[in-house]
Amino acid sequence: MEIKTSEFTLSSPMVSMCPKDNKPEYAFIGRSNVGKSSLINMLCRNKKLAKTSSTPGKTLLINHFIINREWYLVDLPGYGFAKRSKKEVQKLDQMIRGYILEREQLVNVFVLVDVRLEPQAIDLEFINWLGLSSVPFAIVFTKADKLTPTKVKANVAAYEKKMLETWEEMPPYFVTSSEKSQGRDDVLAYIEQITKSLKE
Ligand code: GTP
Ligand code: MG
Repeated sequence: MEIKTSEFTLSSPMVSMCPKDNKPEYAFIGRSNVGKSSLINMLCRNKKLAKTSSTPGKTLLINHFIINREWYLVDLPGYGFAKRSKKEVQKLDQMIRGYILEREQLVNVFVLVDVRLEPQAIDLEFINWLGLSSVPFAIVFTKADKLTPTKVKANVAAYEKKMLETWEEMPPYFVTSSEKSQGRDDVLAYIEQITKSLKE
């Protein structure tokens, strides 16, 4: 799929303030600093679209970007950023979970996990919560450029093994690098296939 246009639409503190048109949307979620905003920029080939930072906690609102004037990519704040007060963590958690549960236009969530790390409890808990809430999702492994291909493979296999302790099968997953545009075609093809199926 070709991305012809990508434009920032709006930032919202809560789901009731998100865009009111009924276009399908795809959201990116994961721990702070995992690379959500960078992935959106990589997919759109537009480095200035979503704000990124080497310091965790950059994205603090629900950000909508309209693609080809047809569907949205949604950048969410990260979870699990330790250097925040309990109240702030709770507020962000409510924003994220409220959005995911209430947003009817949301057709798929991409859960981003850092391919360098062994499976993290916070990610597995979030994934299980999505499952219990019947929210369709795929896993996106990020920062693959930081490891050798062999190590990437081994870590993905270890993740799959961990997932299969609780899940019947591994959900769809993608190995990506925003630095190298790795995985771009596969993620876009996945989105395209879902968007098409909605029109049928
Ligand atoms: P929050 O908005 O704080 O939750 O973070 P985020 O998940 O949006 O992460 P962001 O895209 O801002 O990236 C965090 C840091 O990781 C930045 O310094 C990025 O340059 C870096 N980064 C993101 N993706 C990649 C990648 O694929 N490869 C490498 N090498 N660095 C990456
Ligand atoms: Mg961000």
